[in-house]
Amino acid sequence: MRRVRVSAPGGSYEILIGADLLAALPQLLAPLAPTRLLVVTDRNVAPLYGTAVAAALEKVAPTAMFTLGEGETGKTMTAVENVLDALVAHRADRRSIVVVVGGGVVGDIAGFAASIFMRGIRFVQVPTTLLAQVDSSVGGKTGVNHRHGKNLIGAFHQPSLVVADADVLRSLPPRELSAGLAEVLKHGLLADADYFAEVENNLPLLLACDAQAMAHAVARSCEIKAGVVGRDEKESGERALLNLGHTFGHAIESLAGYGHWLHGEAVGCGLCLAADLSQRLGLLAASDVDRVRDAVKRANLPVRIPGLSRQDALHAMAGDKKAEGGKIRFILLERIGKAIQRTVPADALDATLSAGGYC
Ligand code: GLY
Repeated sequence: MRRVRVSAPGGSYEILIGADLLAALPQLLAPLAPTRLLVVTDRNVAPLYGTAVAAALEKVAPTAMFTLGEGETGKTMTAVENVLDALVAHRADRRSIVVVVGGGVVGDIAGFAASIFMRGIRFVQVPTTLLAQVDSSVGGKTGVNHRHGKNLIGAFHQPSLVVADADVLRSLPPRELSAGLAEVLKHGLLADADYFAEVENNLPLLLACDAQAMAHAVARSCEIKAGVVGRDEKESGERALLNLGHTFGHAIESLAGYGHWLHGEAVGCGLCLAADLSQRLGLLAASDVDRVRDAVKRANLPVRIPGLSRQDALHAMAGDKKAEGGKIRFILLERIGKAIQRTVPADALDATLSAGGYC
């Protein structure tokens, strides 16, 4: 088992990465001495893992399970209220723990519910998608969408523990696995050129869910993210670099309709657009733009999403919560392994959108 420590002002905790960790959950949670446990999962994950985890956790404390509907469209305040209702019905108190068994959407909803129930109770993340293991379960961002924007409502609330079981990734549909690889590529691109090169070489192994290659990718991605979150928990500076590809990605998701593209697919395409924009601004070499596009393509992710309107994309990006005073700040690549943040002239942005198939 590998351990990565996150040390943030809002909480210090371990990410445990390895095989067969779901079976070890009762031993892992017992030291947290919860009074009650609420397992929050979704309709896909409940029959695979959620029900079994809830049954096993009865050994630790009285446990109930709450099952959310699927998909990004379900990331609403109503879903949060439903989790809060389940906590009240289970007579949860301040020493109770929410155990999230699922992907990023469930983690964001249930983590936010935990952040506001009785002004904040503990939660444990048991991410069951690659995307959640390498990104969304780590770092304490929780929240839901508003009709005017993605993740507009939320809180920073660090989990007490993250348990990433490598075995569960084998049950993932190939599309979900590829979506998670977008965030893996992102971590290499923004912080570690050697890691990016390693991921490029290992893509066939990662797509085949090779246990060793996958455990290493999850651990290295978590180390990179843990370092950034430890230095800038609330995103007043460096943490924004983790949004490489996301300003474009969020616009794609919102224009195509939430749920049409998986978050990681939109981010994969967003990485290509960010690389293109970086080159137009004289930062990244053309050969590196090709390298980014090639890696995204070989991860079975879209490199272009044609047919979206440039005007609508600009409007969506200006409404992104990373926009400040009407100026859109982009995360760009100075080189592979080094991201920077800056505002961008409209003509370069327009040219990138045109080249990306926007009309
Ligand atoms: N996914 C970006 C962050 O956690 O900051």
